[in-house]
Amino acid sequence: MCGILATLLADGDGHCVGDLVDGMTVLQHRGQDAAGFTTASTSQDWEKVTFKTVKGTGMVREVFADPKRAQELLGNVGIAHVRYPTAGGSGLDDVQPFYANFPCGLALAHNGNLTNSERLRKELVSRHRHLNTTSDSEALLNVFAEHLAANLEARRRGSVGHAGDPLSTPVSPDTLFDAVERTMRRCVGGYAVVVLVHNVGVLAFRDPWGIRPMVFGERKSRTLENEYDRAVASESVALDTLGYKLCRDVAPGEAVLLRPGFPVLTQRCAERPVHRPCIFEYVYFARPDSTMDGVCVYAAQLKMGEKLAAKIKRQLGDRPKPDVVIAVPDTSRPIALQCAYSLDSVYREGFIKNRYIGRTFIMPGQDMRRKGVRMKLNTIKSEFAGRTVLLIDDSIVRGTTSRELVLMAREAGAKNVYFVSASPEVRYPNVYGINISTHNELVAHNRSADEVATFIKADWVLFQDLEDLEDCVRELNPALKEFENSVFSGCYVTCDDEESVATSSEQGSPRPGAKTPLSRVSPEAS
Ligand SMILES: *[C@@H]1O[C@H](CO)[C@@H](O)[C@H](O)[C@H]1NC(C)=O
Ligand SMILES: *[C@@H]1O[C@H](CO)[C@@H](O)[C@H](O)[C@H]1NC(C)=O
Ligand SMILES: *[C@@H]1O[C@H](CO)[C@@H](O)[C@H](O)[C@H]1NC(C)=O
Ligand SMILES: *[C@@H]1O[C@H](CO)[C@@H](O)[C@H](O)[C@H]1NC(C)=O
Repeated sequence: MCGILATLLADGDGHCVGDLVDGMTVLQHRGQDAAGFTTASTSQDWEKVTFKTVKGTGMVREVFADPKRAQELLGNVGIAHVRYPTAGGSGLDDVQPFYANFPCGLALAHNGNLTNSERLRKELVSRHRHLNTTSDSEALLNVFAEHLAANLEARRRGSVGHAGDPLSTPVSPDTLFDAVERTMRRCVGGYAVVVLVHNVGVLAFRDPWGIRPMVFGERKSRTLENEYDRAVASESVALDTLGYKLCRDVAPGEAVLLRPGFPVLTQRCAERPVHRPCIFEYVYFARPDSTMDGVCVYAAQLKMGEKLAAKIKRQLGDRPKPDVVIAVPDTSRPIALQCAYSLDSVYREGFIKNRYIGRTFIMPGQDMRRKGVRMKLNTIKSEFAGRTVLLIDDSIVRGTTSRELVLMAREAGAKNVYFVSASPEVRYPNVYGINISTHNELVAHNRSADEVATFIKADWVLFQDLEDLEDCVRELNPALKEFENSVFSGCYVTCDDEESVATSSEQGSPRPGAKTPLSRVSPEAS
């Protein structure tokens, strides 16, 4: 899980660094491990333009602890990334964006994970490409660059009279979309990508399943009449904050090209995209004020509260009724509030959060996580004392945090502690960029809800049904039929490698990125 942002100011003399830094601060919840920024100019003599990059570990404000670093980021176009710690390295070496100098200057950042990056890496290395990191983003960048180079070369050969002059083949929208098309055929996994293209602008694309989210928007230029600044972001909150109007989501398998002085160009680059957005985004990752694939995350969370309440009523049996509903801050608050309302119970703040410490989910190592809970949360004793309390959290992953919370509730005097998870049982690893990589440590992997209750020492544990969770989002946008829900179901939409993808296509299931020529979708002005 990571956050990405790209902005392109219409005014070539403008500087987009302010937008990038502010926007990434708004997307900080998507990753606090590291941040990287690359900017350039689209107006200067292209041979003189250099890419400016600032990278650092920690939060955006830590990267710019010295404000002078922001002044290095000159130019009206740029991309940025915040990193969530994943399987790859965790030092500064792997911080995105990555840069390639062929066939033109390219810088790339992405949110997601390629499941066939080992294979791509081998293919690249066999062609003597040097990959300096283990990051799948670097592999993705090189795959894209090779396809773009091949396209340009083919066109150069084809253009009579100009043969030999590489500049006679401009990096046109067609060559870029072609390269995206070919890249999508090779890269398996979930990815939302932004590419800064030297002397052109920003290219953005989303994998053929639309697993990871991405939106784009525009804003009237502050300096030029009738011109628009444009931006692409992981979540619409970044656009809101920067004053961009949300145009729409980038469709699965679609590429979007932003250039100064031109309308936005979009093109479908996968043959049969099948939309399967990640359902976990709606419960856990996205901010409630984001609109994702046409669904307001907050509205979906209210529905989650209602459906949870219905399930609690169905299954409460002769257990004592909860006296109070308490959310584990912050993500589960809207869910708990609506759940309490639907249960005709009382919602109370019982845990107070220290806002100056990151999510414990993101802290490496189990011991730190346990200690982290106490650092992060403290109880209001009177809300627990003598009561049957119903705690609601967004999920139960390893169970260690939940166990600590149950213990804290008991220490505060709770009579009975019920623990409700707004997500279903997390049973399987995620391969699309969420750091849930081994099922051994997932408490629900081989346990029933009652066994999880024993593990976390709660009097009762209840999980949201997957069907209910998906319905919450579906009811708000009926066009969304299915979701990427592998951590709950063990079903992986892309399959684990290209071979099994090929097999599944023979069996007739839809396969994005098939090898037939694509029909062009007419460019859309926005
Ligand atoms: C990812 O999760 C694993 C286990 O859950 C943890 O050991 C590892 O430290 C995490 N990665 C990072 C970079 O935090
Ligand atoms: C290559 O990686 C090494 C260590 O991983 C790093 O120190 C170095 O700066 C990288 N080189 C480039 C050109 O990025
Ligand atoms: C990325 O994909 C690889 C290959 O399937 C997998 O081993 C790894 O756990 C994945 N990482 C994340 C963070 O999704
Ligand atoms: C679940 O699996 C873990 C690790 O494989 C094991 O230690 C534990 O005993 C299992 N628990 C149950 C209830 O089967």
